[in-house]
Amino acid sequence: MDGGDPQPIGVLGVGTMGAGIVQLAAQTGHPVVACDQSVEALEKAQRYVREGLSRFAARDAFPAEEADEHYARIHWTVNLEAMAGVDAVIEAIVEKVAPKKEVFAALDAILAPDALLLTNTSSISITDLASATNRPDKVCGTHFFTPPPVREAVEVPRGLLTSDETVERAKALITSFGKLPVVVNKDVPGFVANRFLMPMIIEAARLLEEGVASKEDIDLLVKKGIGFPIGPFELGDFIGLDVALDVTAYVHEELGEPYYTPPRILKELVRAGRLGQKTGAGFYEYPEETE
Ligand SMILES: NC(=O)c1ccc[n+]([C@@H]2O[C@H](COP(=O)([O-])OP(=O)(O)OC[C@H]3O[C@@H](n4cnc5c(N)ncnc54)[C@H](O)[C@@H]3O)[C@@H](O)[C@H]2O)c1
Repeated sequence: MDGGDPQPIGVLGVGTMGAGIVQLAAQTGHPVVACDQSVEALEKAQRYVREGLSRFAARDAFPAEEADEHYARIHWTVNLEAMAGVDAVIEAIVEKVAPKKEVFAALDAILAPDALLLTNTSSISITDLASATNRPDKVCGTHFFTPPPVREAVEVPRGLLTSDETVERAKALITSFGKLPVVVNKDVPGFVANRFLMPMIIEAARLLEEGVASKEDIDLLVKKGIGFPIGPFELGDFIGLDVALDVTAYVHEELGEPYYTPPRILKELVRAGRLGQKTGAGFYEYPEETE
């Protein structure tokens, strides 16, 4: 596996994040097993990856004729057993503890003893997820940012029992994707990135709820005043408001900090099915994105 051909990897859950990770892995030469429980999600991801590869070819990331070769490295499936031969699985299913532990236990029974179990979780304890397996030393976080083919860094949170060797292997995998791994030494809720990001969304939502300023003006000040590339409401819609709510709720529960109480407006939008760009509406409307 070391220094030779790019190793085969699995991606479980091919939604917003998983589809991007599949594209990234395939275009850097890795054979990929792309698995989801939903056929609809697989079909959507297939379109996303095809378009993504064409876009990258158009930007000269690789010759246009290679796009088909990259795509051909991907095996799409609803069957978890198809992961049996991979060296590492990156799990990217819903941000909830119980389903993640369930798939970790199932994968532990399927994968070769030396295979890594990696998770794209935004906030959930790596140590807790590892406790569902008999290989806690081989479980580690690989937290990509959205969209995965574009963002440069990947957060690598280690659990209490993650071995140094596993961290090195996870870093090598991220490097083989052309990305920069950044190791987080302690398994804290939200790791580093979401301890910055979620307060920004919480503050913006509270300012909006209190009528301090409109969402457009808050986004404008954050972008044109502070100089951030994206406003908090735009970012929430981009990430997915369900994901933002799950992360905030998890950090709130784990830290017991009233500060992280999920804003009411976030809950209401999620209950109304306004999850952001992926559903055509969130804080803002995205008519052309609606399917
Ligand atoms: N959205 C973001 O910006 C972002 C950024 C970094 C990390 N993450 C994390 O990545 C993970 C996925 O988030 P997302 O935004 O891609 O979610 P998503 O809802 O877009 O996709 C989740 C996918 O997982 C599938 N799925 C759910 N349960 C499954 C199961 N048991 N077996 C197989 N497939 C299953 C769903 O069908 C769906 O296709 C979460 O842990 C999230 O916190 C998200």
